Amino acid sequence: MFELMKIRRTRARPVRVFCLRTQEALISEHFRMDTESSNTGKQTFNVVGLPGDGIGPEVYESARRVLAAMQESHGVNIVLDEQLIGGAAIDATGSPLPQHTINACKQADAALLGAVGGPKWDNNTAEQRPELGLLKLRAEFNLFCNLRPIVTHPALHSFSPLKPDRLENVDLMIVRELTGGSYFGKKWRDDDQAEDVCRYTRKEIERVTRAAGRIAQQRDGRITLVDKANVLETSRLWRTVASTVIEDEFPGVAMENMYVDAAAMHLLTRPADFDVMLTENLFGDILSDEASMLCGSLGLLPSASLNEKLFGLYEPVHGSAPDIAGQGLANPYAMLLSVAMMLRHSLSLDQEADALERCIHDCWNEGILTKDLRRDGFSTLQITEAVCERLVR
Ligand code: IPM
Ligand code: MN
Repeated sequence: MFELMKIRRTRARPVRVFCLRTQEALISEHFRMDTESSNTGKQTFNVVGLPGDGIGPEVYESARRVLAAMQESHGVNIVLDEQLIGGAAIDATGSPLPQHTINACKQADAALLGAVGGPKWDNNTAEQRPELGLLKLRAEFNLFCNLRPIVTHPALHSFSPLKPDRLENVDLMIVRELTGGSYFGKKWRDDDQAEDVCRYTRKEIERVTRAAGRIAQQRDGRITLVDKANVLETSRLWRTVASTVIEDEFPGVAMENMYVDAAAMHLLTRPADFDVMLTENLFGDILSDEASMLCGSLGLLPSASLNEKLFGLYEPVHGSAPDIAGQGLANPYAMLLSVAMMLRHSLSLDQEADALERCIHDCWNEGILTKDLRRDGFSTLQITEAVCERLVR
């Protein structure tokens, strides 16, 4: 039997992000829904399922089963429309993001992705890389706002490489700009040189800063803008534009600036001090993997990528982990927490999202964890069943 570990404090509820659209939306029904009951659950939602590569299909299967259990337990009606992306799509169609998949997403309320990539496609040309499917999806649907909540849980403190006292009360939201910067700038290479242009426009910085401002308003009202303004011109534009947006439109929100090298250090030495961390695409990619170590495993981190209409792509932060694929070793919690984010942010099913998160936390308290966390850990399927059981109980 495993040891029962008590939760020392009730976790703050993950934050709502209703207000991405316009400033007026702050006083619209969307904002008020925060305190009202959620969607009745009788509506039917369309979600595109994108299993992808490596452990993607395994954690996707976990999500599929949990959603089926939620239909039984909470009357959540979600029709999953499974489509190809990444390496699987290259193998089947020659393209990492087939038009068919794009069309399906256009009809959907949200999309749920496992993971893309793997050594099989490592030597492919730039146009034939699995990751390009994901990047194109982000660009096609303007998913500029990537939310990566980092919340430590007492039952998992001992699995983090950090000292437990550093992990108390860590609850930060990384807001990563997702459709700009060096990921999407002009790229070229010849035998001797290569270039990835990092470009940001005022508009791109403004919209993601507004999203961060609205999120901060619903939390502690503090934003740390992470950049490299002592070296990079794009960072200096970020500082100017972001500080104007916050000063003009978010009087209750305080913004501090921090260089990315220092932020990487402070994330490990005083993570509980952060509230909202706003940053550009590449820095956000790096810092979110680092921050996952606070929670104990990269296999625990969910993410949401949203556009102005709150259409969202929900995916675990971890990758396709080809080394452990097909063995039942994948940690499904990041995916299941991504499902909870989808229920909350794109489908307005708050109570259902709360219920799913509660079941996940119950499992953590009971030590129901995969082998990345404990040597005698459970399989992906066993964990999925444990969560489903608690939902329908
Ligand atoms: C992530 C991933 C992706 C990224 C890859 C797979 C393109 O690492 O979502 O963090 O770099 O954005
Ligand atoms: Mn990443």
